[in-house]
Amino acid sequence: MQKKIKVGIIGMGYIGTSHIEALHRIGFVDLVAVTDVNYELAKKKADEFGIPKCYRTIDELIADPEIESIHDCTPNHMHTEINKKIIEAGKHVFSEKPLARSSAESAEVLEALKKHPDTVAGLNFCYRMYPLIQEMKVRVQDGEIGKVYLVHGSYLQDWLLKETDYNWRIEPEYTGVSRCVGDIGSHWIDLAQTITGSRIVEVCANTVIALPTRKKPLGQVETFAVNSNAQYEEKKITTEDYAGVIVKFANGASGVFQCSEISAGRKCFIDIEVDGAKASFHWNHEMGDRMWKGNRDEQNVEIMRNPNLMPPEIRQYSQLAAGHAEGWNDAFKNSIEAYYRFIRDGKKLGKDKPDFATFEDGHYIMKITEAIIQSAKEKRWIEVC
Ligand SMILES: NC(=O)c1ccc[n+]([C@@H]2O[C@H](COP(=O)([O-])OP(=O)(O)OC[C@H]3O[C@@H](n4cnc5c(N)ncnc54)[C@H](O)[C@@H]3O)[C@@H](O)[C@H]2O)c1
Repeated sequence: MQKKIKVGIIGMGYIGTSHIEALHRIGFVDLVAVTDVNYELAKKKADEFGIPKCYRTIDELIADPEIESIHDCTPNHMHTEINKKIIEAGKHVFSEKPLARSSAESAEVLEALKKHPDTVAGLNFCYRMYPLIQEMKVRVQDGEIGKVYLVHGSYLQDWLLKETDYNWRIEPEYTGVSRCVGDIGSHWIDLAQTITGSRIVEVCANTVIALPTRKKPLGQVETFAVNSNAQYEEKKITTEDYAGVIVKFANGASGVFQCSEISAGRKCFIDIEVDGAKASFHWNHEMGDRMWKGNRDEQNVEIMRNPNLMPPEIRQYSQLAAGHAEGWNDAFKNSIEAYYRFIRDGKKLGKDKPDFATFEDGHYIMKITEAIIQSAKEKRWIEVC
């Protein structure tokens, strides 16, 4: 039997727990250690999930000779420092998105990677790993809908609608140059670029800070948790609640998307449509097991995820039979599994093209994010360069 790949995780908050669960579903990896700046939390997770080692510091976990691959599940402001440390220790790294707070930071991480060409670095833009997104990508890039004219959609949430809603993502020191675009718009951008196989090269944006002040609780609030703390300080807000963005792609396609964290009733509403010369495809995350094909001269078709009808390169991302709903946990596991298959199969970045997002992808999305913020500030089109 092949030796299992030994793994460690840094950051045991909201998303760190999902990484534990996903790793436990992959047979050829072995999660051996965790750490968090909040040691008690890390210990609790280690005990709950039967993880043998719990370290007090990042450095101890990185130095563990048994560990070959490390997941960075910390908030954005820690990504650059931690990802660089992992790379410089000669280990593979799977980081949460966005890659950094700015493109200057993400460029630093790419520099570190250049000196370690055998390191596999993956970024968790997990929505691209829905089987039907992979299917749409293959069908669009095989020319089924003809030349792509338009890409449009949105990513809407409501978890920051009230002035008492608060999280580290509100503050630029932690989140970076952008909040709403960096945190969720970046996922939509990744979907659009993955499906079309083309990069966004120009943007024209309007951003909105609907709540210019918020009530910051005295004490930390977990991601997506309802704040029950009654003690607040008034905080001036400088990160956007909403962005509306017109985009141009390198292949000549045009598009528009909006992202919002203040749209009541919208929880994780990701919607994307690609309109080509012959037909269109549409997918919505809240019905992620279905996609729609729009035709001009024949009936429109609803396509159900069906592994029996998928080519092997897509079928590998769909475990359950058609009609047995797959969802976010499955796409999330696909993202991590694609990264570990790449390592297991001895593939190399720069030579082999992975299905998961790379740090290069993440760096480019940081540049798009910055261009969007600059465009909104200067009220003009900005080229992404
Ligand atoms: N891929 C996705 O769909 C997705 C979803 C949610 C979050 N995320 C990303 O995951 C990251 C974490 O987000 P979250 O919602 O889990 O945040 P969180 O606040 O729930 O958890 C972050 C954890 O990191 C720990 N931490 C902070 N500084 C640390 C340090 N110096 N050393 C060790 N641990 C440290 C905190 O104690 C906390 O437990 C963010 O970058 C976010 O963008 C991605």
